[in-house]
Amino acid sequence: MKRTLTKDIGAHESEQVTLEGWVDVRRDHGKLVFIDLRDRSGIAQVVFTPKEVAAHEVGQTLRSEWVVRLTGMVKKRPAGMENPNLPNGAYEVSVTAIEVLNEAKTPPFPLDTDGHDVDEQLRLKYRYLDLRRPRMQKNLKLRHAAVRFIREYLSNEGFTEIETPILTKTTPEGARDFLVPSRLQPGKFYALPQSPQQYKQLLMVAGFERYFQIARCFRDEDPRADRAYGEFTQLDLEMSFVTQEDILRLAEDLFTKLAESIFPEKHITKKPWPRLSHTEAVATYGTDKPDLRKDKKDPNELAFSWTIDFPLFTEQSKEDFFHGSGAAKFAPSHHMFTAPHPDDVPLLDTDPTKVRGLQHDMVLNGYEVGGGSIRIHRPEVQEKVFDLIGFNATQKAQFDHMLTAFRHGVPPHGGIAPGIDRLMMVLLGESSIREVMAFPATSSGQIAVMDAPSEATLTQLHELSIKVETGEE
Ligand code: AMO
Repeated sequence: MKRTLTKDIGAHESEQVTLEGWVDVRRDHGKLVFIDLRDRSGIAQVVFTPKEVAAHEVGQTLRSEWVVRLTGMVKKRPAGMENPNLPNGAYEVSVTAIEVLNEAKTPPFPLDTDGHDVDEQLRLKYRYLDLRRPRMQKNLKLRHAAVRFIREYLSNEGFTEIETPILTKTTPEGARDFLVPSRLQPGKFYALPQSPQQYKQLLMVAGFERYFQIARCFRDEDPRADRAYGEFTQLDLEMSFVTQEDILRLAEDLFTKLAESIFPEKHITKKPWPRLSHTEAVATYGTDKPDLRKDKKDPNELAFSWTIDFPLFTEQSKEDFFHGSGAAKFAPSHHMFTAPHPDDVPLLDTDPTKVRGLQHDMVLNGYEVGGGSIRIHRPEVQEKVFDLIGFNATQKAQFDHMLTAFRHGVPPHGGIAPGIDRLMMVLLGESSIREVMAFPATSSGQIAVMDAPSEATLTQLHELSIKVETGEE
């Protein structure tokens, strides 16, 4: 018989249905055995009566998390026994036949709590169980709803979704790269992209004008509550022939509508979103990502804002930007493709720290949830920025493809990349970014469920022309 989802049993009163799912809880009342059967749509109450001897016998052996297929008659629950908390709480299924599809060990932690009380390492090791808890199911389903909303919105606005390479070259966004050895070119390495920044700019040269991608980004940097280790996801987008105003308006409209459609219980503090210059934000709030909520205890308040007019450069301090470039004085405060404010271009030669960048940060409840800019599209300006950040000839050569492309008819362009994980973390009111990711890395960089990273075999290393030093002398 065709499977019925638990949420739909009410539509089948007095009919036989077949349900499949997990035993959520079993309640043994002696003669009557009840189980809550869970599937992707929710929960239904199922009852085993002594009249159905064979099924009743199996019913008594069931344990939480076993997987079963059962057939039975949908009945109205006796008066007074309805469960007002379930959409189908007026009904139950009286079982006539049951098949155990899979037994299950007792889970290493309870699945009917929110999980915050359980050790995170253990949760990540048994993530497939941890994800069964309603909070995690909700988080990932709402994340899907948000991504789907974004795809539809941008497609309707004339954007093309395009995938860019994962095996690529360094894309400096300020973190350490992950390197992948090349077998065909011994001694050479791909870098995993820290973002699709350069590819999206090249797609503007290619004439797409409006690009987006739900893009995986890879950064080897220390994790924090709002920063995933290793990899995370951006909505990466880029547009040609636009001003900064066009980018801010598009992102503001998209995320206002997204929040209002997917989180109708939430309210946005101020529309249009406040805009603060970097100087103003730091002077007033002591940070460039101020929390502008009126009531920080209100879980449904969303205070979006923009921070703009960042300085293009910061003075380079202890560590070189771009790992070992020598004695450069300046580092880009966003990234090296951000355009200077047109009024400030002359200052590049005289007083670079005074140059404002056409950068914009999207801020929500005190978190930087997105960043972007208008890009440099004139090769001579790009070269000047390379010089100011202290690039030597070898380093410049690594970005030769950008300068070459810029000599083949590049439109003025710009964009933004909101972080999907961080945005969802704030929208869902979670305290850690890992609560909105299916299989995040642990703080020591392990994917616990798979026990990655792992050692390579000698054959693999040999093929890659790699020798591993153990670190022991
Ligand atoms: P940026 O480096 O500012 O810009 O990143 C943009 C957004 O990505 C998210 N993000 C992260 N989320 C989770 N874990 C991380 N480790 C992490 N790092 C960044 C944040 C951040 O605001 N190419 C530019 C964008 C552009 O200029 O268009 C870029 O990557 O939400």
